Amino acid sequence: MSHASDSRPQVTIPELAVLRSQNRKIVMTTAYDAPTARIADAAGVDAILVGDSLGNVCLGFESTLPVTMAMMLHHLEAVARSRPRALLLADMPYLSYHLSLEDAIANAGSFIRAGAQGVKLEGGAKRLPVVRALIDAEIPVMGHLGLTPQSLNAMGGYRVQAKDGQHALELLEDALRLQAAGCFGLLLEGIPAELAAKVTQVVKIPTIGIGAGPDCSGQVLVFHDVLGLLPGVGPKFVRKYLDGYALMVDAMSNWASDIRSEGFPATAESYMLPEATRKLLSAWQPPADTER
Ligand code: KIV
Repeated sequence: MSHASDSRPQVTIPELAVLRSQNRKIVMTTAYDAPTARIADAAGVDAILVGDSLGNVCLGFESTLPVTMAMMLHHLEAVARSRPRALLLADMPYLSYHLSLEDAIANAGSFIRAGAQGVKLEGGAKRLPVVRALIDAEIPVMGHLGLTPQSLNAMGGYRVQAKDGQHALELLEDALRLQAAGCFGLLLEGIPAELAAKVTQVVKIPTIGIGAGPDCSGQVLVFHDVLGLLPGVGPKFVRKYLDGYALMVDAMSNWASDIRSEGFPATAESYMLPEATRKLLSAWQPPADTER
């Protein structure tokens, strides 16, 4: 199968800062394999994140906690092979940056070698040493504040974060600290819109929101959520642009019923013999003593 090559230039990390400075909204989505990356890229998104949401969305886990470096690399490599024009980022999975700085650099470095242009990791003040170490190793880092799914157990569930004054101020300070440590952007997840707007106002780096209201520098949604590929009702910040699940179930059941009614495949969908071979085959009879 061939795909038209895109002649637009590759999106780079400095370009996100340019978009922010020009007040142009940044569009980011996730992808976990080559076909989803191609669709997102053909739609002209600015950034593709191979998120650790891979665990919930594709691998059938109930959280991101079981996702390993090996799983992330396998999917990042598939996305990278599609050669997206969009900026390609990879999520550091749980325990890939918690054990030691050396371990974190080696893990993040393997993402860069696999084609990512930067990594994202969760957490505020306590992540500053690892953020600095990665940036020292020439690995661009996007911070992630608010609802951080790898802290699921500590948070006691997926809940909107930083609603009270103390936590809101802590988040603002974390945003400034991550910026000072050198993060090129901040992902803000599951926080009140006014707080995300305030963070976006006080930091100079781009903010990308998910469940964080309209005033971030850009927005991210999981690819499967945008296209409605997952059954059931999602969180309220998700807007489905397609009922992909119902459409796909419909298409698959039409195909199944065509097979059962012998309507698939048609002659046009089959490879036919040349006339001479067809005649030969139709005249041919098995010898009487052929064993079956
Ligand atoms: O893993 C993920 O999909 C994320 C989202 C917040 C975009 O980090």
